[in-house]
Amino acid sequence: MLITIPDLLTPEQVAHARTRLNEAQWVDGKVTAGYQAQTVKKNAQVAEGHPIAQELGELILTALARSPLFMSAALPLRVFPPMFNSYAGGQTFGAHVDTAIRTFSTTGQRIRTDLSATLFLTAPEDYDGGELDVQDTYGTHSVKLPAGSLLLYPATSLHAVRPVTRGARVSSFFWLQSMIRDDGQRGMLFDLDNAIQRLATDNPGHPSSLPLTGVYHNLLRQWAEM
Ligand code: NI
Repeated sequence: MLITIPDLLTPEQVAHARTRLNEAQWVDGKVTAGYQAQTVKKNAQVAEGHPIAQELGELILTALARSPLFMSAALPLRVFPPMFNSYAGGQTFGAHVDTAIRTFSTTGQRIRTDLSATLFLTAPEDYDGGELDVQDTYGTHSVKLPAGSLLLYPATSLHAVRPVTRGARVSSFFWLQSMIRDDGQRGMLFDLDNAIQRLATDNPGHPSSLPLTGVYHNLLRQWAEM
């Protein structure tokens, strides 16, 4: 399931991030790519662990924690520190699957990458190309979001970034381990949560709210891994 989190960052936060990123140290994006992905990855990214990446990563993690939509959709257990990349001058990232297990460089803790996230930091009108193409069983979805908006998509999917032929596409990207490993189960919990919220809004005090909320929590209890 592909889920958009609109306006995760405010325009002021996006502008601040772009200014700080201009001051960061940028390296070849191949450094964090696995063996297959290295052959198709052509971009630049901020050095992992760079103080500016850490500072902006904290900003993003704070915004995620305050987003009920993100929490409901991702049911996050661990979020990998956000990284930052840039595509310009025809740069692209060909079709690949993300590495399944990643290690936090600071603690050595491992994370299973259930979900991938791209936070767009450039307005779509400022560059051509650069769509994120995500393949699932329903076909290929081509995504290009406003600056400040986030796309969550299954890390299991084949995906690619189309060549950027004008301007530059700057984004943050990261992975997370969800309490719910399976994309289908996570999607059903998200749908159920949304339905319960709508019921509470449209019919406050409806007698079905209580048992449905119970089912939600009991499914979460059955399926969650921590
Ligand atoms: Ni990827």
